[in-house]
Amino acid sequence: MTASRSGKERMHIPSWPCLTSSQLHFGEDLRQLPFPLQAANRKYFYVARNGIYHIFRALGLANQENVLVPNYHSGNETSAMRAAGVNIRFYPILRDLQPDMEAIERLCGPETRALYVIHFMGWPQPMNRLVEFCRARGLLLIEDCALSFLSEFEGRPLGSFGEYAVYCLYKTLPIPNGAVLVQNRGHLQELDGLETLDPKRISVLSRSSELLLDSFRSRFPRAGAMLAGIKAVAGSTLTALSVERERVGNIEFDLDKVDTGMSSLCHWLLARFNYELIRNRRRANFQWLEHRLREKVNLLPLSLAEGVCPLFLPILVEDKKAVAAELTRCGIGVVELWNEGDPEANGPDSEDALFLRRHVLELPIHQNVSEAQLDYIAREVTRRVRPTERLRVPSAAQVAAAEEPTSAMEPVSLRA
Ligand SMILES: Cc1ncc(COP(=O)(O)O)c(C=O)c1O
Repeated sequence: MTASRSGKERMHIPSWPCLTSSQLHFGEDLRQLPFPLQAANRKYFYVARNGIYHIFRALGLANQENVLVPNYHSGNETSAMRAAGVNIRFYPILRDLQPDMEAIERLCGPETRALYVIHFMGWPQPMNRLVEFCRARGLLLIEDCALSFLSEFEGRPLGSFGEYAVYCLYKTLPIPNGAVLVQNRGHLQELDGLETLDPKRISVLSRSSELLLDSFRSRFPRAGAMLAGIKAVAGSTLTALSVERERVGNIEFDLDKVDTGMSSLCHWLLARFNYELIRNRRRANFQWLEHRLREKVNLLPLSLAEGVCPLFLPILVEDKKAVAAELTRCGIGVVELWNEGDPEANGPDSEDALFLRRHVLELPIHQNVSEAQLDYIAREVTRRVRPTERLRVPSAAQVAAAEEPTSAMEPVSLRA
């Protein structure tokens, strides 16, 4: 590993989008909002895990019933399910982020009531097969779009296929909190009667100031770093004074805050974002960086099909902790999705999920990342990371070609 560059080149590239006026429409008629922001049956929450908890509470599954859940997940969605009394049966996700359909078939039994699907980092799961699978067995389909707001599959928004879907909005948009649950079919009346509570002003103020500060620091890294230091002291003081705040981006599930709704500032902002611009910038940034890193580092076999709104650009690295620490020191806001998950998910068939947890590191490509910053990310990453055969993840097409009986090549397996 090489030490970070000279101070002159230091940059600050936030992990998450920050608040800038260029992403907003002002003084115009309110526009058509993307799905599900105008869906008939939607409910807003402070964070997505609150919505996940409420879906399962409202479904009221019987003790012996179970839900099939991917073994590659954050851990806070599974905590929300467990708090709602859900019996989870984990199904494997392969190294190319596709579900293992044979295992799903095997795990699905007479007590299975629902299939829970996570669209990873903006890329759709194979919805035609999964919708058909659920239809044929009378299962509910629940889509977790926490990482996939604004993404589509074959021209249809993710989250519009299943009976229910939950989105985390604050990951794609620069808002201080916010998630939405949508009911496409199988209306649950218990959710209509649910009254959410306003979040504490201090929580909204605190996170909003971070979003503004990140925007400033991105342009003026040195002055921004000083302000961030002051902000950190203010935060620690509030904590020391036991000032309670609702949080975003953490991994805990807090049952006491499960009824907290989205703040009114977020409602105001949601009506004003230029969603097309946000999606286009993310796509363009992904393509630019992917082009620069191709062949130089190991990438997941993700193609940017029309309609995909990428959350990050994932790369594979041998020593995730060390590379993450180095890039963070250079001011690059990498994200480590997900080093750990539900402890019960690591049973048989979990080698591929563990491989993803150990080696996938997410690079920022959000709407605020400038071309100069992308160039900096490409340079800093390629100085530290090399492609290796061990971390190569073939695409499904490569696997199929290699498995052709006439092929002279050795079969390539997606399994560990
Ligand atoms: C797949 C998945 N589902 C649900 C959540 C919960 O989102 P939130 O932080 O809005 O509660 C997360 C958060 O990281 C996630 O990654």
